[in-house]
Amino acid sequence: MLTFRRALVLAAAILTLFFIFHSSHRDPPRIHNAKDHPKPASLTKTTQKESASKQETTEPPKHNDVTSWKAPGSTQVPAQKPKTQIPLAELRKRPLRAQLEYQYPYDVEAKFPAYIWQTWKYTPASGDFEPMFREAEASWTIMHPTFVHEVITDKVAKHLMRHLYASVPEVLEAYEALPLPILKADFFRYLILLARGGIYSDIDTAALKSAIEWVPGDVPRNTFGMVIGIEADPDRPDWADWYSRRIQFCQWTIQAKPGHPVLREIVANITMETLKRKSEGRLTKDYKSIVEFTGPALWTDIVFNFFNDPDYFDMSTSKGNITWEHFTGMTSAKKVGDVVVLPITSFSPGIRTMNAGEDDDPMAFVKHNFEGTWKPAEERHIGEIFSG
Ligand SMILES: *[C@@H]1O[C@H](CO)[C@@H](O)[C@H](O)[C@H]1NC(C)=O
Ligand SMILES: *[C@@H]1O[C@H](CO)[C@@H](O)[C@H](O)[C@H]1NC(C)=O
Repeated sequence: MLTFRRALVLAAAILTLFFIFHSSHRDPPRIHNAKDHPKPASLTKTTQKESASKQETTEPPKHNDVTSWKAPGSTQVPAQKPKTQIPLAELRKRPLRAQLEYQYPYDVEAKFPAYIWQTWKYTPASGDFEPMFREAEASWTIMHPTFVHEVITDKVAKHLMRHLYASVPEVLEAYEALPLPILKADFFRYLILLARGGIYSDIDTAALKSAIEWVPGDVPRNTFGMVIGIEADPDRPDWADWYSRRIQFCQWTIQAKPGHPVLREIVANITMETLKRKSEGRLTKDYKSIVEFTGPALWTDIVFNFFNDPDYFDMSTSKGNITWEHFTGMTSAKKVGDVVVLPITSFSPGIRTMNAGEDDDPMAFVKHNFEGTWKPAEERHIGEIFSG
């Protein structure tokens, strides 16, 4: 029976929800063309190229000073500007990237959200959770006692995505259409980081050091919005037999602020590619193409495209594109625009190849447990998710 007290409590709950919902939708509008933004001035390709050869030292990279590099969204829209609400029907007519940017605007000056996201078939509370993952899973909580740490099951992920992307139905359609758990798990990491930010890490990956220590303290936290690591830097003539890219960035651990343009781009890319394949009846359970479709090869390409995108970087003084050569053999963190790239030791310690340091190296931050280290990237990527 609905007593007066119950009615009161219910009313209060509805009001609270209304306010939460209302205020979370009052962020400043961020629909705009990236081209409208001032070009970054000081971070030129020349600086990056010149300092690339100096990365052997432990000194912070020279181009850490990128104060004039501006992420879209951080300058033109004053934080206090009242929101011009765009009607949903109007918004839905805009290109996918613009819709995503409106939903999840990027602010390089914001703090890194204190979230750790993981996804697996079971939560650690379940008896079915594999004992082999327990230590790795616990390491994230131990290293980040003040963070919110969530292991999202497939079932919960489905609801979470429906909640986060309700207003961008193409994304949901693509997510639900992906025919393999590994594809969904790949897509999930980009989607959750785009919407919420924080750290994503695979379930078989352990934290060796707190994320607070990943980037040298003298790099101001409001000058970067993404931290990535290197999976492979195979300095051998037959590298192409083993890896799909000469430098491959890993996507088993990523730290990002919500709305980062790289995440927006990869979400748009996978969404469009999935829906295209779906409409052509080409969405198959083909494991071989995962690396290029949602995995580290695509991730690597999207990151490089961003580094060479004139919307974000001043190309006028550039002496050529940012390529793998800027990252090969790195031994300390390197900042390109608002992305910090960590050396191979940081996210791939102890692999005994490609000059990666051991697990106890001061630069070793997370430990990814692949079975066997010198397997083709495709095979390894599959092993990653299905090991155990
Ligand atoms: C996704 O990105 C890849 C790599 O840059 C590119 O080859 C492909 O055409 C893109 N697909 C879509 C649908 O944008
Ligand atoms: C640089 O990259 C852009 C975009 O990826 C490409 O169109 C262009 O041809 C590249 N330029 C050089 C000199 O390689």
